[in-house]
Amino acid sequence: MITDHEITLATLEDAQAIAELSRDAIEYGLPWRWTPQRVSVAIRDRSTNVLVARRAAAALHGFAVMQYGDETAHLSLLAVRESARRHGVASALLEWLEASARVAGIQTLRLEVRASNLGAMAFYARMGFVESGIRTGYYEGLEDAFRMSKRLATG
Ligand SMILES: CC(C)(COP(=O)(O)OP(=O)(O)OC[C@H]1O[C@@H](n2cnc3c(N)ncnc32)[C@H](O)[C@@H]1OP(=O)(O)O)[C@@H](O)C(=O)NCCC(=O)NCCS
Repeated sequence: MITDHEITLATLEDAQAIAELSRDAIEYGLPWRWTPQRVSVAIRDRSTNVLVARRAAAALHGFAVMQYGDETAHLSLLAVRESARRHGVASALLEWLEASARVAGIQTLRLEVRASNLGAMAFYARMGFVESGIRTGYYEGLEDAFRMSKRLATG
């Protein structure tokens, strides 16, 4: 499905809502690392894109955080509010980031996902990511991570 959500760069006013969605949808059962302060640092950081998705200027429905290196970009966070899922919001966020990564000359996208998060792994596989390894105890020693990566087509 093609979403009718508007995708824009986050502003500092979005930091609280992004952090709370990260805590509830991604970091559940773990210490809260992506606090509003840390999200604000990411929003200000020139080598990081923080995106938000909302519909008709309403509350935030989803967000994504990607950090750009020279040849690799790292998708640090991606979440969609439960009520807005399966409407293409995450796909639209990721497609925006992939397009900007291509412009920046990035060759590979990387991410880690909680080993228990089968839904997210299915989503990433659908978006062209493949498993590239496991990081034991990556989440505070409490849970393993699967590494996934996607090679971006050139030319
Ligand atoms: C994973 C997540 C970001 C997907 O967001 P979304 O907006 O619902 O994804 P989309 O609507 O763009 O999904 C596109 C396709 O991916 C696949 N997909 C998405 N979620 C899936 C799930 N839970 N199980 C299986 N396949 C899934 C489907 O093929 C889907 O297409 P379809 O709806 O036509 O079947 C969302 O479920 C989420 O926020 N989960 C909690 C946080 C999280 O796990 N974040 C990622 C790890 S950091």
